[in-house]
Amino acid sequence: MPITFDEQRQLFHLYNDSVSYIIDVCAGRFIRSLYFGRHIHDAADIQNSFEDDARALTACVGGIEEHISLHHLPQEYPTYGSSDFHYPACLIRQTDGSSISAFAYEGHQIGCGKKNISPLPSTYVESDDEADSLDIILHDARNGIRVILSYTVYSSYPVIVRSSLISNEGNLTVSLRRAMSFSLDLSDCNYQMISLSGAWSRERHVHKRPLVEGVQSVHSMRGTSSAEHNPFIALIRPNTTESSGEVYGFSLVYSGNFLAQTEVDSFGRTRVMMGIHPDTFDWPLSPGQSFQTPEAVLVYSSSGLNSMSHTFHGLYRDRLSRGLWRDRDRPVLLNNWEATGFNFTEEKIIQMAHAAKDLGIELFVLDDGWFGKRDNDRAGLGDWYPHTVKLPDGLRSLSEKIRELGLLFGIWIEPEMVNPDSNLYRSHPDWILQVPGLSPAQGRHQYVLDFSRDEVVEYIFNSISSILVESCVSYVKWDMNRYITDCYSVAQPADCQGTVFHRYVLGVYRLYSRLTTAFPHILFESCSAGGARFDPGIISFAPQTWTSDDTDAVERLKIQYGTSMVYPLSTMGNHVSEVPNQQVYRSACIDTRAHVALFGMLGFELDPCILTGVERDTIMSHIAFYKHHRSLIRTGRLYRLLSPFEGNLCAWIVVSADYSEALAACYRVLNTPNPGETIIRFSGLSESVQYRISGRNDTLYWGDELMYRGLRILSTEWSDRGDYASVLWYITALV
Ligand code: DGJ
Repeated sequence: MPITFDEQRQLFHLYNDSVSYIIDVCAGRFIRSLYFGRHIHDAADIQNSFEDDARALTACVGGIEEHISLHHLPQEYPTYGSSDFHYPACLIRQTDGSSISAFAYEGHQIGCGKKNISPLPSTYVESDDEADSLDIILHDARNGIRVILSYTVYSSYPVIVRSSLISNEGNLTVSLRRAMSFSLDLSDCNYQMISLSGAWSRERHVHKRPLVEGVQSVHSMRGTSSAEHNPFIALIRPNTTESSGEVYGFSLVYSGNFLAQTEVDSFGRTRVMMGIHPDTFDWPLSPGQSFQTPEAVLVYSSSGLNSMSHTFHGLYRDRLSRGLWRDRDRPVLLNNWEATGFNFTEEKIIQMAHAAKDLGIELFVLDDGWFGKRDNDRAGLGDWYPHTVKLPDGLRSLSEKIRELGLLFGIWIEPEMVNPDSNLYRSHPDWILQVPGLSPAQGRHQYVLDFSRDEVVEYIFNSISSILVESCVSYVKWDMNRYITDCYSVAQPADCQGTVFHRYVLGVYRLYSRLTTAFPHILFESCSAGGARFDPGIISFAPQTWTSDDTDAVERLKIQYGTSMVYPLSTMGNHVSEVPNQQVYRSACIDTRAHVALFGMLGFELDPCILTGVERDTIMSHIAFYKHHRSLIRTGRLYRLLSPFEGNLCAWIVVSADYSEALAACYRVLNTPNPGETIIRFSGLSESVQYRISGRNDTLYWGDELMYRGLRILSTEWSDRGDYASVLWYITALV
């Protein structure tokens, strides 16, 4: 049983072969953080760490015999105001005006498997022997509030999953002002904090900063997880690298406003917490009601960042993502957006589909512009029926024609939005988020529909469903092109306006859940102006996400490298696009563009009708190559080898689970005159296996040589003699 409770010491030990997570009940009431790290047998010394030396300016908890200062007690779910001066995990305002809670341990339950926290998305088990769970029950007798701290330890991932459930069992309504998913106190602060931050078109760049005294955080108050910061942070030791050193990774399974915060105190301790952003949250909890927080995934690695990523990748690919497409190779697609924008006809689409089929493409995706009066971004959102001029015979007819060519057919939707110039808005102007008496802000000429309201979600479900039922649709790209402002719902009373951001996210999850249940055969790809909602919450419904609107191969190195810190290649939609690139006007050769895009779920975003003969042949061979290796790419282990944030080269390798094959690539941003030799050291291969490398004739290389000495890149191997060059190697074990 990987969760034990030592009755005498009141100590819980959650463990598997790799990690231990140890907490205890201190003084009969406080849940104390003792240890999270590499697996240890026991914690004989840890309980001695309790601080009882008097310190000036220290307050001690009232009403108990021991002199306990919560400021000095490492805690699992701290509150503010009764001797702890750090930021709390939980803040509840009561009807008498007090915001002070006094939670005490009441009991616990240990069981097999893992609970579902629906309607919130969560990681899951397929059989109860995959994980064990612990619920710790806390009670605040004065206010009648119970909190259940839930913990799950998976047997085969170095992971602890946490969430909290807060219930009002008293007689008065209270107001939940802060309800973090977890809090954890670490005993020192010798860490650097990694975040995945950026902006539109340069999402999830890797940022590192040392922890110093005080608070450091990343957050979103944009209504979605955002392009600016991802709901993830890692704490690493100063000497940690991709392949060695200690790492804690923290990831929130949520798609809305979040806060990921570290606080280093004057005694060198670090408090880490993550959850819904408290500044945009205020949840009245009536007697009998409960509030479930999103879950957070806490990963520990003693062997570097790659190993942390392997844990996230495995868990998110196999036990977060769901549905038929979870374990299936994805079709190579052509998306018409960069080629045509809004400006297309049915005839043009059929021509493109024809040419795509000849290249080996398997799915045609009709992007924005097929519906309502959508000729530009000022009209049509909300009117989910075919554009009568562009598609005079309707969407069904087009989908059938594309099917007859032997291609699958997919469509773009943006279900959460409405243009003021749309029939939907004209009929239901009150269906948007808006503050009475204020003109709501527009973003891309659109308003945000009030997804906190059931009838709005129901209407959108019905209109999108009829399109999906009528036409032969195998794929849906679900976009979201603006952040949320004016977050006020006319359907909610004044004291519930602080619930609207979260209710909105629940509405998005409800629509996802209904559509994926009603249309289980459809592959959903999430998108938010590119990658502004690339998070674990969405992955639970849509197995892949459009990684970024930036399709430039060089920019994509940083974006894909950063994204891979948490998210597996099976979740990253990558397209080869035309040059000069539409975002940065750079021209990388077709091989380099393909070598970057094929490390993910491959697609194309260009007009296949205007390719030169050479381009066509090259693309055909890349597609054939990809189809041959796509299972390896989707399921293999990714090792980041050289970081584009640290130099001119970037490299990575994907290795199959049985070490029998691998795909590696190296990218050179700028060429150097008269260069020295470039040697790439691989990772993840088997030391004592001999490998063949594509393009290297019959030479055999031992795995240990490739990993410890490395492979010298031949000047003839680069895809381009100049800048933006790449080399791709397919590596197979000698059998
Ligand atoms: C933003 C997406 O990221 C693009 O790929 C495209 O679908 C446009 N929206 C369409 O409006």
